[in-house]
Amino acid sequence: MEEELNPFALNSYFGVEYFCDRENEIKILLRNIKNRNSTTLISRRRMGKTLLIQHLFNVLPPKHIGISLDIFSTNSRKEFLDNLSTAIVRNVPEDSSIGKKIWKFIRSLQPNISFDPFTGSPQVNINVSPQENDRYIESIFDFLEQQSQRIVIAIDEFQQVLTYKEEHTDVWMRTFIQKLNNVVFIFSGSQTHLMTQLFTDPTRAFYRSTKFVHLEKIDPEIYSKFIIKHFRKAKSKMPKAMVNDVLDWTYGHTYYVQALCSAIYDNKESEITEDIIKKSKLEILTDEDFLFMKLRGLLSPQQWKLLISVAKEAKLVKPTSAEFIRKYELGSSAVVLRSLNALIDKDLVYFGLTEDSNKFYAVGDVFFERWAQWKFY
Ligand SMILES: Nc1ncnc2c1ncn2[C@@H]1O[C@H](COP(=O)(O)OP(=O)(O)OP(=O)(O)O)[C@@H](O)[C@H]1O
Ligand SMILES: [Mg+2]
Repeated sequence: MEEELNPFALNSYFGVEYFCDRENEIKILLRNIKNRNSTTLISRRRMGKTLLIQHLFNVLPPKHIGISLDIFSTNSRKEFLDNLSTAIVRNVPEDSSIGKKIWKFIRSLQPNISFDPFTGSPQVNINVSPQENDRYIESIFDFLEQQSQRIVIAIDEFQQVLTYKEEHTDVWMRTFIQKLNNVVFIFSGSQTHLMTQLFTDPTRAFYRSTKFVHLEKIDPEIYSKFIIKHFRKAKSKMPKAMVNDVLDWTYGHTYYVQALCSAIYDNKESEITEDIIKKSKLEILTDEDFLFMKLRGLLSPQQWKLLISVAKEAKLVKPTSAEFIRKYELGSSAVVLRSLNALIDKDLVYFGLTEDSNKFYAVGDVFFERWAQWKFY
């Protein structure tokens, strides 16, 4: 196998070559931008929302500017203002013609601009009184509205606005966002139930204000080709049967597929065999051991027991059935329900619909599920 950069990137965007598919989603997003419609992008954790936005910004047509911000760590409108201004100066280089204007405008807000000690990227902190803060944010959007380029703002982890110390932040945002024509938004977030609530609850400000894109698993045929292609480029033979094993074991869930492929690739073998795949799976699960045991300490004994039971079932359809409770010695259905809700709140268990429309519960982290099936056989 030839020396090459590991093509199965985790958490970073390395360009079109290392990005698999999502052509349809990109088409829809570009169409929404063209039609000045905002989009809500949702999916299960680690399916690829954040990377999709990065890829989209890489393929935006000319005269479009993409600005992406992640508001996960913000807790107030003041922090939103800083986060927004930082995202603007990071996404638009000062030496472009629009960059000059944008930086000039941001400087007119009399910010403190510092540089991240590790990455060197600019960080903006604007000194503003709480009374003036909202007006500043609105003035930034007004400024962007007047530009001749179309502005696309992607706000990741948008559900965070629900926790801001100022109440009804979504209502306030909606009032000025709906006046914008040249600025189009993409709202994404990993807490699906909160995101859905924000955009589909008729009593909420953002109700039906956007088009929805649900990011599902990448088509297994397309993913297989992508995987085989990258092994072939490094002169390594990855048989189809082995790829199928990878996609089955990870359920084709993007992050887990990438992580397993990355570990397999690191073996640098000229042909990928069952043994190499086994070894790579073991390596991954052993690496996670520490983290998963730590999780045990964060849960009550009932929650932990239930989490392991759900993992062992893979897809649990009847959590309160006598059979399930007896099989794993879970006590009563009331105890199971209480723990189940706690695990859902903690984002450890999710629910969905089976092919024949029955509600099922499953563990969100595929590696945890595989680890539990391995350790607690
Ligand atoms: N189309 C793709 N091709 C290759 N790798 C991808 C693709 N989409 C996502 N990934 C990889 O999968 C992992 C998860 O992607 P990402 O972080 O974008 O998911 P997310 O939906 O934003 O997750 P979260 O809900 O946790 O924020 C990352 O390691 C990313 O590099
Ligand atoms: Mg994300």
